[in-house]
Amino acid sequence: MAVSKPVFLIWGGEGWVAAHLKTLLESQGKEVYSTTVRMQNREAVTAELEKVMPTHVLNAAGSTGRPNVDWCEDHKEETVRNNVIGALNLTDICFLKGIHITVFATGCIYNYDDKHPVGGPGYAETDKANFDGSFYSETKAHVEEVMKYYTNCLILRLRMPVSDDLHPRNFVTKITKYERVVDIPNSNTILHDLLPVSILLAEHNETGIYNFTNPGAISHNEVLSLFKQYVRPSFTWKNFTLEEQSKVIKAGRSNCKLDTTKLSNKLKEYNFEVPEIYEAYRNCFQRMAAAGVN
Ligand SMILES: NC(=O)c1ccc[n+]([C@@H]2O[C@H](COP(=O)([O-])OP(=O)(O)OC[C@H]3O[C@@H](n4cnc5c(N)ncnc54)[C@H](OP(=O)(O)O)[C@@H]3O)[C@@H](O)[C@H]2O)c1
Repeated sequence: MAVSKPVFLIWGGEGWVAAHLKTLLESQGKEVYSTTVRMQNREAVTAELEKVMPTHVLNAAGSTGRPNVDWCEDHKEETVRNNVIGALNLTDICFLKGIHITVFATGCIYNYDDKHPVGGPGYAETDKANFDGSFYSETKAHVEEVMKYYTNCLILRLRMPVSDDLHPRNFVTKITKYERVVDIPNSNTILHDLLPVSILLAEHNETGIYNFTNPGAISHNEVLSLFKQYVRPSFTWKNFTLEEQSKVIKAGRSNCKLDTTKLSNKLKEYNFEVPEIYEAYRNCFQRMAAAGVN
């Protein structure tokens, strides 16, 4: 049942996704606060929750690495402290206080395999993680395994999030700036489509794990072709193979399609639908072009 007057508290207040969430909630006229309190600090987390008294916590905090996830390979203890100890601590305190928590997690815990080949079925929420090529992904997969038992917790698995601008953290910005890109289909999260869904699900106190991407998968070349068509006609790029890519990165990168059936079925209860990935990208790039982003 929906809460009459939700109060949102966003964790990881200075992060990229957190900023999008805050803007969205404010545009919806919702009561929203954000915090940068460290999740692993039990006393400080408790004090913050008692000060703000949220009905809903949105956890968009975690070690994502700068400039990229390779950072996590060299900062393992810090990554565990933030992505495992901190994330669990925050969920646990919310549980004890009867607060619903939405966790912005990752679907980068899978890799294509024989049962889930390119063009084949996607990974369901019930499938065991099978990508341990990066320490970042490893921490995220491990923490999910225990966090899923908390009955106050909604876990949303984003992948390669895309915003309507060319922010450095936007997946599109990243691949337009690489010297060379691989070309392999992946599930992507267009924030414009999915962030409102996260609020809808949180407000209705939904719990459990959801693959949180647009339906389907799209390859890097397909994304870049649409980018060229709608946003930057002069754009060109060069490809390389996964093997060549592995020589220029420290941590492996997950490539996979997620099955979004569970999310689609849940959203039918709310008469809501997330556009499939090709349509979503066309819409996204049209919004970019209309806003003069290039
Ligand atoms: N962007 C992506 O490609 C992507 C993809 C899938 C999933 N996600 C997930 O979505 C979430 C948000 O991602 P994002 O791109 O917005 O990341 P981001 O820009 O790096 O923001 C994360 C924020 O969390 C803070 N933080 C880190 N450890 C913390 C701790 N222990 N306690 C409190 N705050 C902490 C960071 O602050 P400091 O800098 O001060 O540490 C940073 O401001 C992350 O959990 C990420 O794993 C992101």
